[in-house]
Amino acid sequence: MKRNQLPIGVFDSGIGGLTVVKQLRRVMPHEDLVYLGDTARVPYGTKSPETVVRFACEDTRFLLDRPVKSVVVACNSASAWALNELERRFDVPVFGVIVPGAEAALKRSRTLRIGVIGTRATVRSDAYRLAIRKSVPGARVISRPCPLLVPMVEEGWTRGDVTRRVLHEYLDPLLKQSIDTLILGCTHYPLLKTAIREVVGTGIPLVDSAVSCAKYVAGRLEKMDLLAEGRRRSGVIFPFVTDEASRFAEFSKRFLGAPTKKAIRVELPTG
Ligand code: DGL
Repeated sequence: MKRNQLPIGVFDSGIGGLTVVKQLRRVMPHEDLVYLGDTARVPYGTKSPETVVRFACEDTRFLLDRPVKSVVVACNSASAWALNELERRFDVPVFGVIVPGAEAALKRSRTLRIGVIGTRATVRSDAYRLAIRKSVPGARVISRPCPLLVPMVEEGWTRGDVTRRVLHEYLDPLLKQSIDTLILGCTHYPLLKTAIREVVGTGIPLVDSAVSCAKYVAGRLEKMDLLAEGRRRSGVIFPFVTDEASRFAEFSKRFLGAPTKKAIRVELPTG
């Protein structure tokens, strides 16, 4: 099979990465996608950098064994800590969510005061700030870990009183520092967009790292001549998980907005 006809591999710590799959499908509807959700070891956002890098290498190894023509690291925490190591170790184009998100924020920001929210691992890595300041050294980046948001979204609490109050706790300090753009630096946050918009108001653009990542990947694959040109049929999603697959269908409806094939449970190669 020609390399460009192979699927794109996507991995995440769990099911949140389906928000990235949703955007990849929107911009590249004919591409096949292999999705790996490491549901047995989620969350990554609370783990140490070494552990996140190790898990990300194992996830990538699994995808390359399918095989795939490129790898998208949908998980912000893994992109933040492991992208360099994955690029060094594997001989395939690897794309993360951080650089595209940082670039999209710089395009939207007028005063260069950019807020970032994400897991503890993502914020601790400082990856968004480094990416933003690499392009524009004078930009101010104000980051805040929001550890309660992932479980809230998984619980389906994307609106309502409790959600609003938690969002105010996390976002008010950023607003006080006069951010003019907010990066949603986590797979789960696109599901909170409406609630976040209500809290921050309409004047602050929300940068969805899934949207910017998908556009970036499409552009890069086109340049590398790796798109499945000429394919007429819709792309197929092949989902794999590392824990029981029973709730995957429910989550895929919420995070992807569509059902997928049945997820297959797998063991990852270790070491
Ligand atoms: N996928 C993770 C991220 O985007 C969120 C869930 C987790 O902590 O593993 O950072």
